[in-house]
Amino acid sequence: MPGEQKRNPLMPRVGRILKIIKETPDVKTFFITTTDGNRPFTAGPGQLGMLSLVPVGEAMFSVSSQGENHLEFAIKKIGVLTDALHEAREGQAVGIRGPYGNGFPVEKIKGRDVLFIAGGIGLAPVRSLIKYCILNRNDFGHLQVVYGARSPEDLCFREELFCNWVNVKNCRVDVTVDRGSGSWTGNVGFVPAFLEELNPSPEGKIVVICGPPIMIKYVLQSLKKMGYKPDQIYTTLEMRMKCGIGKCGRCNLGSRYICLDGPVFSAAELNELPNEY
Ligand code: FES
Repeated sequence: MPGEQKRNPLMPRVGRILKIIKETPDVKTFFITTTDGNRPFTAGPGQLGMLSLVPVGEAMFSVSSQGENHLEFAIKKIGVLTDALHEAREGQAVGIRGPYGNGFPVEKIKGRDVLFIAGGIGLAPVRSLIKYCILNRNDFGHLQVVYGARSPEDLCFREELFCNWVNVKNCRVDVTVDRGSGSWTGNVGFVPAFLEELNPSPEGKIVVICGPPIMIKYVLQSLKKMGYKPDQIYTTLEMRMKCGIGKCGRCNLGSRYICLDGPVFSAAELNELPNEY
């Protein structure tokens, strides 16, 4: 990238909010650029960045997409920092550093059919991989996105779901909501049951999951019933990333640190670790 240099990921730099998109009543996507109009860093699918707002604080967020001159972060209002970010305006300064985390194992996934399963804001990290697969369409087989949210109003990235991804060759999108409302004519029901109804064949497939822990737990049970093996399944524990550099001790799973070894793990790897995720 022009203007993009190899940087120490611990070194914050001053960024600027280029654009804000309201996705749902409590999720906004922030486009972040540098003060000189460059992309702050290059993030592989599933990697994260640390955003800070002075004097409120800082937190780690998944990069949901990247463009020539910006990174995108879809952020849900869940606390003091995210509330402050939701009050921020385009043009406002933010601190940014990264990238952090291992990201999705793109090379291992190449050549395979990919089933993406996401719930709520969990589509944010998965979106970075979906977009990567679409951009490099010939490197991957069939793509299927199964996405659920609490209500139709809580669906993120609607334009991509209903206008863009459905029109990509050899790609299907299946959406469900926990509770229908208004003019919603799509499926109503939880993601695990919806997945079992759709019953995608495990043959030759890699599965990528992200969502609330309860959804992940039941999706893993459904996948097992449907014949998927743990080494076909990857998930990201990105919500457990705090300092991102192995210093705060808030992300350990048994002997492993999510920030240093993950946040992306296969279900086979997670089966070897204490069930604390
Ligand atoms: S996030 Fe701080 S030690 Fe892993």
